[in-house]
Amino acid sequence: MSYIIEFKHVSKSFGRHKVLDELDLQIPKGRITFILGKSGEGKSVTIKHIMGLLKPDQGRIIVNGVDITDYTIEQLRDYRKGFGMLFQNAALFDSMSVGENVLFPLIEHQRDKMSIMLERVEEVLTQVGLPNMQHKYPPELSTGQRKRVGLARALVTRPKIILYDEPTTGMDPLVSEMIDSLIVQLSREEQDLTSIVISHDLKAALATGENLLFLYKGKLALGGPPKAFKESTDPVVRQFFAGKVEGPMEFF
Ligand SMILES: Nc1ncnc2c1ncn2[C@@H]1O[C@H](COP(=O)(O)OP(=O)(O)OP(=O)(O)O)[C@@H](O)[C@H]1O
Ligand SMILES: [Mg+2]
Repeated sequence: MSYIIEFKHVSKSFGRHKVLDELDLQIPKGRITFILGKSGEGKSVTIKHIMGLLKPDQGRIIVNGVDITDYTIEQLRDYRKGFGMLFQNAALFDSMSVGENVLFPLIEHQRDKMSIMLERVEEVLTQVGLPNMQHKYPPELSTGQRKRVGLARALVTRPKIILYDEPTTGMDPLVSEMIDSLIVQLSREEQDLTSIVISHDLKAALATGENLLFLYKGKLALGGPPKAFKESTDPVVRQFFAGKVEGPMEFF
């Protein structure tokens, strides 16, 4: 299996708080990987390292076979263009139409003629199930529709890697299930796309995640397919997946 991202002994502290402790992990290319762990375990910090928004105190980060750890600000600017990102609050511009919101990253990349960019916008909106919605404004949309627009905006530049930080937290269960399955469907449609999802939705991760990474105390407690998690006898893994407060897991 080929890996698109590798962490080699990555450590990161904030003050005296060591969040990542010689973390080793691998993310396979062209698949979905779920990053799991309780609140404060360093999931967001991990993806910020992937994007070069944080630098490790120690260790190396290899992406596509290239060591990005010491990239300069200029190198990182180019590097980040290969990513799509969907944050928790889709963060659309309310004063811009849906079409303009999705067009925005394409204009920043400045690669194509306007007519080609507009075609791409319509294409990606259709892909997320929102054809003919270009002229609506975000406040007119439902939560689920806004999230779909955010998804279209993350995909429009055809990134090789897409990062989702808690894409469905705080949404009602039906909408969140719909968005989860859309994420899986999009990842299956685009063979070369690597999707990395931070989620609290264990059910979705176990049902759909091809690869799960479970972080605990700054390390990878377990990584592998859902089967490895269902069969694990590690008491911390069992406790997390049973959703129990009682057990060996430490809550600081
Ligand atoms: N820029 C920062 N400065 C100081 N501390 C930080 C910073 N970023 C993260 N931390 C700390 O690092 C720890 C891990 O944070 P992180 O955001 O990665 O958690 P998380 O696993 O994403 O949790 P959640 O599920 O709540 O989003 C937390 O204790 C947080 O307070
Ligand atoms: Mg987080």
